Amino acid sequence: MLPSPPDVDRVNRLIAENNQNVLMLGATPQYARLGERLTALDGTAKMIDEYWPQADENRRAILGDWLSMPFSDGKFTAIIGDGSLTSAANGLSKLFPEARRVLAPGGVLAVRCFCAPEPPETIKDIIESLATPDANPLCFRMRMAMAMAALQPNYVFPIRDLALMFDSLFPDRKALAEKTGWRRDEIDRIDSMKSATYSVGFPPRSWLGEMAAQTFTRVEFAESEGYPLAELCPILVLE
Ligand SMILES: C[S@@+](CC[C@H](N)C(=O)[O-])C[C@H]1O[C@@H](n2cnc3c(N)ncnc32)[C@H](O)[C@@H]1O
Repeated sequence: MLPSPPDVDRVNRLIAENNQNVLMLGATPQYARLGERLTALDGTAKMIDEYWPQADENRRAILGDWLSMPFSDGKFTAIIGDGSLTSAANGLSKLFPEARRVLAPGGVLAVRCFCAPEPPETIKDIIESLATPDANPLCFRMRMAMAMAALQPNYVFPIRDLALMFDSLFPDRKALAEKTGWRRDEIDRIDSMKSATYSVGFPPRSWLGEMAAQTFTRVEFAESEGYPLAELCPILVLE
């Protein structure tokens, strides 16, 4: 679910008036040219090394925690990110005030989020939709993850559980490939999650909006479009 070129344009437009000094939550290379100056902040050195080879004076990446940022108050004119809140869903009550702190007065946050549908789908709904021609393994995984998140009180669960659930539902992958027409290597990509130790959160828009509204006065979702499940990938806009 990497951001598409139109996603990047949308974020660029949303911060157009505030793009002088931009903070990115994460090191998403697709956004690397946004902002007159850009600082990427991520908690994993490997991500920075892998995704940020283009560092220069105006495009640097820093190792650090979004919940306790190594920046002075009001330093940035805008904050961007892609799926950042999915990775930090357990910490939103700290992340939103911290984002507000480092934003200058009038600054804007524009982060693409992955928001579960309301009401949530069930795993049963999703399995039944396997017969539809536009079903694909990536969307299927995303919908399953959102259905699993809906069962948790704070919408967060270890990503490894998604792979374990998949195995229990589809022990015969050859049969699944035949039924869906999906490529076997695409199905098997879920196995990479088995060794993952991090959790993910897929709250619905209403919950995310309520959390953000505890800190920000303008809380809006800008729609994404042009790819499957775009309606679940809006850009959260905060001021
Ligand atoms: C799943 S990865 C993001 C994947 C990325 N969007 C991509 O396209 O490859 C999640 C990233 O979020 C970062 N992250 C999660 N919580 C964080 C926090 N509290 N502070 C800093 N970085 C955090 C992790 O370090 C990790 O690099």
